[in-house]
Amino acid sequence: MKDLISLHDLTSEEVLDLLKLGLKLKKELKEGIPHPILKGKTLGMIFTKSSTRTRVSFEVGMTQLGGYPLFLSSNDIQLGRGETIHDTAKVLERYLDGIMIRTFAHSDVTELAEEASIPVINALTDLLHPCQVLADLMTAYEHKGRLEGLKFAYIGDGNNMAHSIMYGCAKAGLDCAIATPEQYQCNAEVVENAKADFKASGKNLIITRDPVEAVKDADIVYTDTWVSMGQEAEKAERQKIFTPYTVDGKLFSNAKEDAVFMHCLPAYRGFEVTEEVIDGPRSVIFDEAENRLHAQKAVMATLMA
Ligand code: CP
Ligand code: NVA
Repeated sequence: MKDLISLHDLTSEEVLDLLKLGLKLKKELKEGIPHPILKGKTLGMIFTKSSTRTRVSFEVGMTQLGGYPLFLSSNDIQLGRGETIHDTAKVLERYLDGIMIRTFAHSDVTELAEEASIPVINALTDLLHPCQVLADLMTAYEHKGRLEGLKFAYIGDGNNMAHSIMYGCAKAGLDCAIATPEQYQCNAEVVENAKADFKASGKNLIITRDPVEAVKDADIVYTDTWVSMGQEAEKAERQKIFTPYTVDGKLFSNAKEDAVFMHCLPAYRGFEVTEEVIDGPRSVIFDEAENRLHAQKAVMATLMA
């Protein structure tokens, strides 16, 4: 494993090992046991989109591992003025031990990973968000005591979260149900890849238009914003189409009695989820946010040590 671009590229064992290491690093941190696994190493963090959780958790995580995080806003580096990904990769690999990148086009991240000799970590593209799903699976494990055989339901936009959730569930042995409107279905190639991964794992993938069918007997109910970064101009149209996909108390009541609610955040209360659900007793959104730190430390330690 040189990079973390997509959970589809990893074996089940690699995904489960990352989760185990994340849980171990979390325990050590709580017990005050230092783990300077990346002492003297530097991570470059390229952002062409906004971030709260990803930026802070990678910076703090790198610091806790004894390394140095370097924030590289696209406004400040030459990549934002048209320098090629090839030249950027060839320069950065001479200084850094790893690159984390959040950007629009997924192909920019795969190109960077191909060109750079150092590890590249995908911190969200328009297509995928693997780091978030590692944190989500870790959170599901902590709340449910297992992953094997759980049902993970995702309701809403067929976006980067939906895609990475399918890949993550297949690798970690969960059943998965995705409910999206007709107009905003998942990427067809990702669905094909995910189907192959579910076939290999022997778990079920349901793709439906019906949110009730997806949520039925689920252990985890997940949603995400209807308007992802870069889609701001489509806001009014999207809000109209997605309204029947709001996760409210009624929809959530179709899940198992002890089901948890998850959201990658940032959330828009009253749109993709009601206050009743996201601020209710079964919401674990801040555990997910915390676990970004621990899961990504596992990724950095695995790729960069
Ligand atoms: N969930 C997530 O990636 O949050 P940020 O956009 O704040 O990094
Ligand atoms: N789908 C959202 C996720 C944010 C973490 C976006 O891409 O904006």
